[in-house]
Amino acid sequence: MEIIRTDCLVIGAGLAGAAYALQAEKAGLDVQLLSLGGPTDANSDWAQGGIIYDTDPGSGLLAKDILEASDHTANPAAVRQLVEEGPKAVHDLLIDDLGVGFDRLADGELEFTREGGHSARRIIHSRDLTGHAILSAVARRVQETPGIKRQEGAVAIDLLTLSHNTDNAIDRYLPLTCFGAFVLPAGSTEPVAMVARKTVLATGGLGHIFQHSTNFPGTVGHGVAMAYRVGARLIDLEYVQFHPTVFYGKNAPRFLITEAIRGEGAVLVNVEGNPFMDALHPRASLAPRDIVSRAIHKEMATSGEPCVYLDLGALDKNNLKGRFPSVFERCLEHGVDIRHDPIPVVPAAHYSCGGVHTNLEGRTSVLHLNAIGETACTGLHGANRLASTSLLECLTSAKFTAQADARDIAAMEFKLPEPRAWESPPLEADPTLVGQDLNLVQQTMWNYAGIVRSPRRLTRARRILMEAREEIQSFYRDCRVTPELVELRNAVQAALLVVHAASLNPRSKGAHYIVDEERQN
Ligand code: SIN
Repeated sequence: MEIIRTDCLVIGAGLAGAAYALQAEKAGLDVQLLSLGGPTDANSDWAQGGIIYDTDPGSGLLAKDILEASDHTANPAAVRQLVEEGPKAVHDLLIDDLGVGFDRLADGELEFTREGGHSARRIIHSRDLTGHAILSAVARRVQETPGIKRQEGAVAIDLLTLSHNTDNAIDRYLPLTCFGAFVLPAGSTEPVAMVARKTVLATGGLGHIFQHSTNFPGTVGHGVAMAYRVGARLIDLEYVQFHPTVFYGKNAPRFLITEAIRGEGAVLVNVEGNPFMDALHPRASLAPRDIVSRAIHKEMATSGEPCVYLDLGALDKNNLKGRFPSVFERCLEHGVDIRHDPIPVVPAAHYSCGGVHTNLEGRTSVLHLNAIGETACTGLHGANRLASTSLLECLTSAKFTAQADARDIAAMEFKLPEPRAWESPPLEADPTLVGQDLNLVQQTMWNYAGIVRSPRRLTRARRILMEAREEIQSFYRDCRVTPELVELRNAVQAALLVVHAASLNPRSKGAHYIVDEERQN
């Protein structure tokens, strides 16, 4: 078995992973950066709305909005870090160093937009392609940095720990310690061991364990599942945020309709054209996402219609194509001209507020294992995330974790062990079964563990998923590992973890909404 040794193994090359790689390399560390696909094939690339750049952090207003969106459950220390450190992270890396093309006014000043739950215009953006503008600039810099070795198409299978993966029997009595991961290189059937002083989980969220999601394909909670298998502490997994507005068309794919459209004046209306948010929240269509998603769900259940609509009547028609080019083009491809037609929308799984528990320097409960970005949970989002905090959190968590790792590695005495060799089983997994099992996981989660949950639905979900996990574990034991099998194994595990967390929490809060059996809507 090939063994590759490095200072930092970063699993996932979205904004969090790529920004960490840049910071760690700058601090003199050797970095291996794994990505499932090409340089911008990541969830961050699909973020439309923007990134918070709060020019008045001392006012306390942003902290207040984050706490309010979270239904007063967010961790104040994590909120403070984001509010105080976020502006510098955006300025130093994105504006000053990389010169990301954020939209500007005629006088050259940055243009600010607004999204749900925000009391002020404090979000900068690059039309409705903000994630792409940011990630492509960061990924370009990564490619120009020789100290960062990219492994494109490489899939992390399992973490290596002293308790599970060495031949020294005494190692298991040491504190739970991570020293890298087994990785399947692109196009290979033979895993390699990547042995690292620091292993960083930056695999994004878990939206694709649900049938309908805004996430990049393959985002199924890889980090959460791997961390669970080695015994890391996980937290808040019941809080899966549903984005209220995803395009709905009978035979069309679901794609994000950025909340910034509502920030600029679009209004949610029912099939009769009546706004239904005014009576429900003082911010109406710009209420926090959990409230809007549930209101849409209820409206659809009451009307029997498959969607609600976004009425863009208050926006300047002539500006729509320029300001929201991706929404404009994609809607047009599916027969909706947003200059004249309302957009049919439904909610879809969007963001995992919970994840692998970390402190404010990315440390998990397992020594030398970090988590950053959406994979991690510092408690910043509590039960429901405020819009446009996610890209910002990627930057701040990457920066503080890389800095702490550089300090740690400089003082480190930990001698990297030899991993026990991987043994490949003889059989091939049947792709039809693998594909079908993933559908089963996604449908089960959508129907029984989605926007509105009940104890009975969760019990049903758990039974189905436990049985599926048994089957999937047997594939995994008997068959050669493939990227599809890794995805399925992690998806079913992440799904069970979400269901388990939801079952243990009888209190509706933020994105976790649970009803008793008699009143299920
Ligand atoms: C959006 O543009 O609506 C998504 C932004 C976010 O999730 O923060």
